[in-house]
Formats: sequence, structure tokens, C-alpha cells
Amino acid sequence: MENKEAFIKRQAEPLRFLIISASLRTGSLNTQLAKLAAQVIEKNGNKADYANMSEFDCPSFNGDLESKGIIPPGAEEFRKRLLANDAFIITSPEYNGSIPGFLKNAVDWVSRFRPQPFNERNALLMSASPSMAGGNRALWSLRIPFEHLGARVYPNMFSLATAHKAFTPEGNIADATLAKRFEDNLIAFSSLVEAVKNYPCIKKAWVEFLGERPDPVTERVE
Ligand SMILES: Cc1cc2nc3c(=O)[nH]c(=O)nc-3n(C[C@H](O)[C@H](O)[C@H](O)COP(=O)(O)O)c2cc1C
Repeated sequence: MENKEAFIKRQAEPLRFLIISASLRTGSLNTQLAKLAAQVIEKNGNKADYANMSEFDCPSFNGDLESKGIIPPGAEEFRKRLLANDAFIITSPEYNGSIPGFLKNAVDWVSRFRPQPFNERNALLMSASPSMAGGNRALWSLRIPFEHLGARVYPNMFSLATAHKAFTPEGNIADATLAKRFEDNLIAFSSLVEAVKNYPCIKKAWVEFLGERPDPVTERVE
């Protein structure tokens, strides 16, 4: 049991958020949204560790590479940054109604580490698109691998519609109601991460299917 001073010090420490733009494009709308999220996080007294998916770039997953012990440096970096932060936020484009392929590929590589780094990590999903739906279908698609991997995906997601017209020249969201919603969502997510970090009350084992028993054959159970 830690003493009172140590407990108070832990509470006072800023939370660390890995904020990833999942677009490789210069001038990306999702990068703009990710950078705005980083500003909101910092403004509220926490730390933002901004990353672009280009830092986590991986060759197409191939089990032969893995069995030879070859791990792409991008996957190592992704894992390192996940572990160095308390939670992660992804702003992702929607490609053909789903997740960009390079993002899913990097998640597949990272999912092979043990302990599996997404397990029990809190995640917030956001998207931006010129379309009227703001790329929201990509976020529903992203939930599937992340929830499968045991990430705690925050229920509220944020999708910026007509994003090519949504920002002010300074990079803020022009519509005041939407800007407030964006900020409120980040603050609510931060509060949850703070509670999870500082007031742990329950520990759960991650299993792929209810009733499953740890078994080396299924491999992913920890
Ligand atoms: C291969 C491809 C598929 C796309 N599919 C969709 C789509 O299904 N839904 C959508 O809203 N936008 C789609 N778009 C348009 C992107 O939303 C748009 O290019 C956006 O600006 C990409 O995000 P970024 O600005 O962060 O790079 C697609 C773009 C590409 C290149």
C-alpha cells in the first residue's frame, strides 16, 4: 500500500496522451484535427505526444518474417509510444468506408508483441473527411480490431464533417458548438483516463470469447 504523499503526487502528475494522425498526406485534415486535439490536451494541463503514422510504418504483415524474429522498427516504435503514454487518441481518414490499410497493418504487427500492448489501453477515436459523414464509418471499423485486442474504446467518437471547410485559418474548428463538443469530448475522455490511472478498482483478464480458458493454442490470452 503506497503512502499518502506518494498517492497525492501520482494524482498531481499530468496524464500522457499519444495522439496519432493516421494520414500520411501533407496538408491532411486528420493531422489538423490531431494537432488541435494535442492543443486541447495541453491546455487542460496534460501532456500530448503527437505522432504521425509515418513513424509507425510497417511492411505488409507476413508470418514468415515474424517467425524469423524480424519485427519492423515502426511496430517497435508504435509499441514503445503506446507504453510510454497513459492512453491513445487516433484521428483517422475513412478509405472506402473503412480503415486505411497501413493503419490496420501496423495494428496487426503491434498485436503480436507480448504482453499485447493494446490490452487495457484507453482509446479515443476521431476522424475528419470532406464528406457529410465525416469519416465516421472508419471509426466503427477501427473499433473492431481495437476492442478485439482489449482496448477500452471510449463510447463517444468525434467525426468532423465537411472538414475541408470546417477549420479557421488558425486551425480551430470554426463552428462554436462543434468546437465545444470536440473539447468537451476530450476533457471527458481525460477524466476517464485519470480515474483509470489513479483509482484502479477492478482488474480483468482479457479473453477473446466469453468462457474461454487460457490456452497456448489460442495464444492471445494473457
Ligand atoms: C483511397 C481513398 C478512399 C476514400 N474513401 C472515402 C470514404 O469512403 N469516405 C470518405 O468520407 N472519404 C473518403 N476518401 C476521401 C478522404 O476522406 C479525403 O481524401 C480526406 O481528406 C483524407 O483525409 P486526410 O485529409 O487526413 O488525408 C477517400 C480517399 C481516398 C484516397
